[in-house]
Amino acid sequence: MFPTAFPFALDAARAASRHRPPKSLAPGGSGGVASLLVGTPGPLMEMGQSAAVYGADGGVSSDQRTLSEPRGNRHMTTQTPRSWVGIDDSADLRVMANLLRMPDNTTHTKRDDRPEESRRALLSRTFDEDAELYDRARPGYPPELYDDLAQLAGAGPGGRVLEVGCGTGQATVPLAGRGCRITAVEAGPNMAKVARRNLAGVTAVEVVTAEFEAWPLPEEPFDAVVSATAFHWIDPMVRMAKAADALRPGGALAVVRSQHVMGGTEEFFVEVQRCYERFDPETRPGLRPPAAADIDGSDHAKEVERSGRFGPTVFRRYEQDLTYTTSEYLEVLGTYSGHRALPDAARSGLLGSIAGLIDGRYGGRVTKRYLIELGVSHRW
Ligand SMILES: C[S@@+](CC[C@H](N)C(=O)[O-])C[C@H]1O[C@@H](n2cnc3c(N)ncnc32)[C@H](O)[C@@H]1O
Repeated sequence: MFPTAFPFALDAARAASRHRPPKSLAPGGSGGVASLLVGTPGPLMEMGQSAAVYGADGGVSSDQRTLSEPRGNRHMTTQTPRSWVGIDDSADLRVMANLLRMPDNTTHTKRDDRPEESRRALLSRTFDEDAELYDRARPGYPPELYDDLAQLAGAGPGGRVLEVGCGTGQATVPLAGRGCRITAVEAGPNMAKVARRNLAGVTAVEVVTAEFEAWPLPEEPFDAVVSATAFHWIDPMVRMAKAADALRPGGALAVVRSQHVMGGTEEFFVEVQRCYERFDPETRPGLRPPAAADIDGSDHAKEVERSGRFGPTVFRRYEQDLTYTTSEYLEVLGTYSGHRALPDAARSGLLGSIAGLIDGRYGGRVTKRYLIELGVSHRW
């Protein structure tokens, strides 16, 4: 069994001084790229939904590749075509844990990036509390995503891109490196400041500190609106219409979402639920991450369709395993809004207990599997 009370001992000095080492890819991940076109029935969509086709996408390879985006301290090793990103940050712990519940016979799993509307605005501000931590701990996205953004959404060389919720530039820097002209709108002043630092000297990018909902759209329309792990934080009453208004006819809305899925150090992610159960008593027992194939992306396609402003949504999916040391894992947890919003004592207890589990039973390293989903919809 895992230890009970571990004093929270994140080594702040070490965390502050260290540069994040390369993330190593664990062998044997079940990665792959798939495309999903709303229009024909398929296994990833809910019954009754208009339809979907789920199929293998070509170009699968498993070569080790080094991603070296112009990101300062960021240097990662990845295995294509998999991709990565942390578990999405939106849900509070209880909601997140409950959504991860995955009965064996369930084929359509709810996502963990659906913030409760009553807490959306509040939680969306938590990232700005420690922009440096976010910048240090959050991984970027895989090269294949940017290839697809260029090909499917026109977010390639010379493309005029509006990025919504750029954070500290996780997607902005690579997009700029690929020749996009970007206006990035970021609500958090600290996040925006770090983004500007990461983009220093890049003249084709402007980072604006503003809430997207209130930001006046410029007259010249964009070729693409891109939002990476951020669109769900925007007011659902505003986001689709405003994104459409920002685009030229035929321009693309590209929404990137991420989910933690089963894989990597699977036993750890089953066992760690005990920590959540202990420090968040409302966590239901027996939760575990869903299989990637059971993640349902239809909510986004439906929202796009309901807006009446876009054509069908085309999806691309990427998976990647990332290995974390104990301190790295605690840092990335510390960037999730749900963890940040916990009372201090519960958060400290939770993180200490998780640290004890990783150190005590998993040799100080765990591997987490992420599913990244890109949805591209073209404005009528
Ligand atoms: C989870 S972070 C994603 C950051 C980055 N795009 C990434 O891929 O890691 C969500 C970002 O959206 C920003 N955000 C939240 N609500 C926003 C709003 N209404 N307008 C603009 N940005 C917002 C947050 O401040 C935060 O930086």
